Amino acid sequence: MSETSFTPRVFSGIQPSGNLHLGNYLGALKRFVDWQAKDVESIYCMVDLHAITVWQDPKDLQKSTRELCAGFIAAGLDPEKSILINQSQVPEHAQLAWVFNCVARMGWMQRMTQWKDKAGKNAQNASLGLFAYPALMAADILTYHATHVPVGEDQKQHLELARDIATKFNHDYDVDFFPIPEPVIEGAGTRVMSLRDGSKKMSKSDVSDASRINLTDDADTIAKKIRKAKTDPDALPSEAKGLEERPEARNLINIYAALNGQSVDQVLADVGGKQFSEFKPMLADLAVDKMSPITTEMSRLMENQDEIDKILTRGAERARAITAPILRKTYDIVGMVPPVER
Ligand code: AMP
Ligand code: TRP
Repeated sequence: MSETSFTPRVFSGIQPSGNLHLGNYLGALKRFVDWQAKDVESIYCMVDLHAITVWQDPKDLQKSTRELCAGFIAAGLDPEKSILINQSQVPEHAQLAWVFNCVARMGWMQRMTQWKDKAGKNAQNASLGLFAYPALMAADILTYHATHVPVGEDQKQHLELARDIATKFNHDYDVDFFPIPEPVIEGAGTRVMSLRDGSKKMSKSDVSDASRINLTDDADTIAKKIRKAKTDPDALPSEAKGLEERPEARNLINIYAALNGQSVDQVLADVGGKQFSEFKPMLADLAVDKMSPITTEMSRLMENQDEIDKILTRGAERARAITAPILRKTYDIVGMVPPVER
């Protein structure tokens, strides 16, 4: 089975669960925008069906889905170039997931660390959907015959499982139908850490709002959070080696480099020797400069819900032109009788 016989196509998904932050922007959204610039057909999905594997308040879920869509667009995804979809509006995801539920084995699912972490000791009380989560994720990707999947390190195991499902399906039915999708894992440079603790990832679930820059923060808030970010008392080094054992310094330099499209070495060549009292205002200016157009566009879109809903409806139409024939072909392979024209 050759992976190259399929046209390159990118797919990725993010759960609509609120609080988009700088980590999501640099680690996910900005990378999606880079793919878009490469002119590879790309589909980006708000995975609401995955979100409900744990309880979601219906009103919050709607709001978070629209907010995520606004974040995608504000970050630079063009809904005419990339396909932006809300998972539940493209029924083939759930339909193919059922077929994959019958391909995947219980043992495979039981080994997933996310399942073990989220279900914990109370697995009997977890939803069946949480257990089947990775089969739906495989369906998300494979219902587009997607070949490349940009994800964070934590999703690597789920991607392996998607590859196992594609391989087993092709083998069981003796076809060369599904591509074996490649994970494209975020580099360490794009891992943004908490502004309060350089050893923890910036996260939407951190109780301290000062630990992250939200895509809903205004310019003043962004600047204030950077001024208050935790640091050490030393001056900045001139080489990356000098950032070892200095997680907070490394994080702020990484953020500067990522926002400015520079390498860490380039940044240190400019700012090496400076004190944080001098560097922080530079970083605050840069962050405001790069982030406030995004946060402003996001709040504009959030006030124009109709615009977002139309973009998602149009995205689903374009998506179904790809997914419906792939699902039909899957059903044919599996042995399901096709409906006829009457
Ligand atoms: P999450 O918010 O954890 O559901 O993640 C959504 C996407 O953002 C995934 O692609 C993550 O890899 C990425 N992401 C989340 N937090 C960070 C972070 N602190 N640094 C870099 N990328 C992140
Ligand atoms: N499980 C992913 C996460 O929590 C989200 C996701 C769902 C996804 N379906 C996907 C990511 C398909 C990549 C491809 O981050």
